[in-house]
Amino acid sequence: MAPVSEDHPAPVPFAPPDITEAEIAAVERVLRSGWLTTGNESEQLEAELAAYLDMPHVVAVSSCTAAIEIAYAFLSLPPGARVGIPTWTFASTALAAHHHGAAPVLLDVDPDTLNLSAASLEAALDSGLDAVIPVHFGGVPVDQAILDLCARAGVPVIEDAAHSLGARDHRGMSAGQGSVGACLSFYATKNLTSAEGGALVTERADVAEFARSFRLHGLSKDAWRRYEPGQFAQYDLIGPGIKANLPDVLAAMARVQLERFERMQLRRRELVLRYRSELAAVAGLRFVPTELVVASADHLAVVELPRGTDRSATMSALGAAGIATSVHFQPLHRFRWFGANAEVGPGGVDTAEAVADRVMSLPLSPALTDAEVDRVCHVLAAAVTA
Ligand SMILES: Cc1ncc(COP(=O)(O)O)c(C=O)c1O
Repeated sequence: MAPVSEDHPAPVPFAPPDITEAEIAAVERVLRSGWLTTGNESEQLEAELAAYLDMPHVVAVSSCTAAIEIAYAFLSLPPGARVGIPTWTFASTALAAHHHGAAPVLLDVDPDTLNLSAASLEAALDSGLDAVIPVHFGGVPVDQAILDLCARAGVPVIEDAAHSLGARDHRGMSAGQGSVGACLSFYATKNLTSAEGGALVTERADVAEFARSFRLHGLSKDAWRRYEPGQFAQYDLIGPGIKANLPDVLAAMARVQLERFERMQLRRRELVLRYRSELAAVAGLRFVPTELVVASADHLAVVELPRGTDRSATMSALGAAGIATSVHFQPLHRFRWFGANAEVGPGGVDTAEAVADRVMSLPLSPALTDAEVDRVCHVLAAAVTA
C-alpha cells in the first residue's frame, strides 16, 4: 500500500463504525460471561431503547429485514395482497412482501426528500392497497400526511425506520407511533450499530408478543431460557416463526452505542452542516433533502449532482482520491427481479426516474474528522466543475 503523503492521503471510508474501548469492553464482558446468545443483555437493550424512544415495546432482532418480515407476518395478509412501497428503498423492504405472498406496488417519491410521495400514495390507495411501508429515507421522518392517508383508508402501516433512529418529529423520536411498528437497523453502517441487528418498536402489546415468539421459530414465550439451570419447562411451538433473535454479544455493543448515541448524533449534525456550507458554492449541486431537516437523524449525506454531470466519472474521481462513496438507492423498479415480480403504482415513478442516475452518498460517520470531510468537498467540487 502506498504510504500516506500529500500525493497519497489516507483513504476516507464511507461509513466507518464509531467504536470505542467501551464497546470492546462490553463485548469482552459477554464473551467471558458464559452466555453468548439472547439473554440479559438483549433484554436490557430492549428496556433501554424503549426508555430512550419513550415507547412501550421494543423487540430486539437480528436485522431490520427480520423486523420487517415479522411485522408482515403479524399482518397475515391474504395471498395476492397489495403492499405500497416507495421504489426508493433497499430491496428487503419489498422482498418481505413477496415472502408473505403479497405483491409489492412500487410508488414514487417526493423530489425534495425522496420519501414516499403523498400524491403517489393517494393514487395507489384509490386503486386498493392492503398495507403500506413508508421509509424514513436518510433519517428524514415520514410525512404525517402519509400516516393520515393510510389511517383514513384503514390501511395498516409498517415503518421502515432503518435510517431513522434519532429522528425527532411531532411524534417525539418518531418511531412506531400510529403504525403496526417501526423497524430499526443496527447494521454496521447505521447510526447505532451492533455489526448486525435491529429492533421492532411498537406501541401495540399484541405485535410485541407476536414478535417475541416469531423471532424464535414461533416457540412459546421465553423459550430461550430453556438452557438455564432449573429452568427447563415444556415449551410449545405456537406459530411458524423464523430465527431472528439478537445475541447478547451484539446487544452489549448496541447498549454502549445507545449510551453514546446523543453525542454521536451531534457529531453527525456537525458534519452534515459542514458539507452543506462547504459545497454551497457548487453550482447546480443539491442536497437531499434540499434544506436541512432539523428533525432528521442525519443517516446519509446525499447529493444530487448538477445536470449533465457523469455520476460514474465523479465517483471514480473520488475513488481515485481514496474517497469511498455509495448510491442510495438504485430504485427497485429498475431491478430485473422487481420488474418481473412487482408492479409500478398508478401514479408512475417519474421523480425517482428523474434523479436515479444523479444522486450519490458522501462519506458520513461520527468517526470522520473535519479534515476528511473538507477533503471530500474539495475533491467533489473539483470533479463536478471540471
Ligand atoms: C431502507 C432500508 N431498509 C432496510 C434495510 C435492511 O437493514 P438490515 O441490514 O438491518 O436488515 C436497509 C439496509 O441498509 C435499508 O437501508
